[in-house]
Amino acid sequence: MTFQRHTVAAALPYANGPVHIGHLAGVYVPADIYVRYLRLQGKDVLFVCGSDELGVPITLRAKKEGVTPQHIVDKYHTMIDQSFKELGISFDHYSRTSSPVHWETASGFFKTLYDKGIFIEEVSKQYYDEENQQFLADRYIQGTCPNCEYESAYGDQCENCGTSLSPSDLINPKSMLSGQPPVLKETRHWYLPMDKYENWLREYILDGHKEWKANVYGQCKSWIDQGLKPRAMTRDLDWGVPVPLENAEGKVLYVWFDAPIGYISATKEWAAMNQKDWEPYWKDENTRLIHFIGKDNIVFHCIIFPVVLKAHGSYILPDNVPANEFLNLEGDKISTSRNWAVWLHEYLEDLPGKEDVLRYVLCANAPETKDNDFTWKDFQARNNNELVAIFGNFVNRVMVLTHKYFEGKVPPAGRLYDLDHKVLTKLSEFPGQIAKSFEAFRFREALTLMMDVARMGNKYLADSEPWKLIKDDPDRVGTILNISLQIAANLNVLANPFLPKTCMKLQNMLQMEGLQWQDAGSAELLTPGHQLDKAVLLFEKIEDQLVERQVEKLRTSKIENAVMDVAELKEEIIFDDFMKMDIRIGKVVEAEKVPKSKKLLKLLVDTGLDQRTIVSGIAQHYSPEEVVGQQVTVLLNLAPRKIMGIESNGMILMAEHADGSFAFLQPDKEIYPGGEVS
Ligand code: MF3
Ligand code: ZN
Repeated sequence: MTFQRHTVAAALPYANGPVHIGHLAGVYVPADIYVRYLRLQGKDVLFVCGSDELGVPITLRAKKEGVTPQHIVDKYHTMIDQSFKELGISFDHYSRTSSPVHWETASGFFKTLYDKGIFIEEVSKQYYDEENQQFLADRYIQGTCPNCEYESAYGDQCENCGTSLSPSDLINPKSMLSGQPPVLKETRHWYLPMDKYENWLREYILDGHKEWKANVYGQCKSWIDQGLKPRAMTRDLDWGVPVPLENAEGKVLYVWFDAPIGYISATKEWAAMNQKDWEPYWKDENTRLIHFIGKDNIVFHCIIFPVVLKAHGSYILPDNVPANEFLNLEGDKISTSRNWAVWLHEYLEDLPGKEDVLRYVLCANAPETKDNDFTWKDFQARNNNELVAIFGNFVNRVMVLTHKYFEGKVPPAGRLYDLDHKVLTKLSEFPGQIAKSFEAFRFREALTLMMDVARMGNKYLADSEPWKLIKDDPDRVGTILNISLQIAANLNVLANPFLPKTCMKLQNMLQMEGLQWQDAGSAELLTPGHQLDKAVLLFEKIEDQLVERQVEKLRTSKIENAVMDVAELKEEIIFDDFMKMDIRIGKVVEAEKVPKSKKLLKLLVDTGLDQRTIVSGIAQHYSPEEVVGQQVTVLLNLAPRKIMGIESNGMILMAEHADGSFAFLQPDKEIYPGGEVS
């Protein structure tokens, strides 16, 4: 099926922090590449996005910074909008969910569904903070994870083991507002009966969209197979679009109800500003709707939002949702709260003029099928060995040679040899292959193929050696440079979606404009006699120093962040309290892993008095071999405890490092087992 028009929507980033490379690699860079490709094809395409400004994530951040939610969203909306522009993310419109058009649209959507009798109205018991007199969003409740025993799991998810939770799963739940255990209290909400749409979802996705990426299709299947439950579309909160019903005071639309509608609101705003009609982009069957998102958004875009659209009745549905996995940074999960990220606005400031380098590296490493890792070393290597050595080098050689031998005018092509024919045939085949990769949302593959064109150009020059022929056979040199220039002109089209700023420079050098995708593959893009502009370098080498500074910056932020986490001072005690503890130096005699436990080691410790078993939670920091023979500080008179069936008689004292790792407390000279600590 060929579509008449495309609506491409990129996930609305929460305006509770700046955008980082994980967001870019997962969502915005691929979305922008795809849109630029469609535009080159002359397609009618609308690319929308905006800030996600409502809901709990915003209020949490405001609380943390001690300012109003409005202050937070204004600050980050401006910052995000600006940094996207600088990176060349070419939204037709970047909106925000605080806009009046959005409130009206989201509210209207809810009302339509309500009037159609779609919602189930139900009173249920939910956690309530009595001190603050408010219901607690899932994210406002913390407790122990039933799965991994991590003590700061949230009511919706454990960030330690990744399990998704509901607040009632938590052991010892506490309100994050007051620190007190919450109570259960009745409240009324409006539920979307997801279960009723199960069969329809099977048809729509499992039968109808087998072409979706395996990670997306698989997640949808597992959600549907597990059975869907009604889901509340309203919340007790004071930051959001008010529920447009009577007796719904203090209630707002669930942020995952309103946010995707933000794509529609953005379309309306864009249309109004550009004298267009918004409706065909959302209601015409000939429009192809595509969502670019990260993997944590799959259920919302593939299941919940389609059900909302379907229930409404007059909207088209997502035709593809090419969600990506996650990008890690230097081997660690990117985390906003731990400040473990490369922030876009900082990158733009620290590495000015290198926007395309970031786009290139993030596309080359995009987590298309599995999680991937960004490292500054790899960043440097890709710049130096690929962009500089292959792409930049090829273009530069062709330009310089043409200026040197032909005063910067495109020479005519004369007689063609086998070598030339081969190159021209390959050149004509590339656009089709690259287009195929684009259509399948395989942008890494498309990027590799595009670079293969530049590689081919370099090889052609190396094989034909025009610099050796200039004296005896200038016509032959003209032919070689003509062909090489045609390759460069092709690159100007083929690389455009990935490297828009670079292609602007290239286009100026070649003095050509208005090329379309359909032109690619041709060896007649530049006519003989055409005057080229002077050569400029497209990329420059990145020195060690530059990336070392970035690595250093990351290291500092890790430590600073850890310092911020310093635990509060405990209650005062008297000397006698301290003296109650029998602390001594011991030596580890034996060590082994506790079966079925990731964290625990079973140690045999020589305490001078005896040899005793102590179970210690250090398995993630030390191997049994590393521990044997170590001097350790032991609290001996702690009451025995059974841990995973093993009786533990005492506790090894450990110090926590800024990065969360542990270290033994050891005397600075050898102390015989039994030596007292006081
Ligand atoms: N703000 C969400 C996130 O960052 C994404 C919202 S996408 C939308 O995970 F469509 F719902 F807006
Ligand atoms: Zn857990």
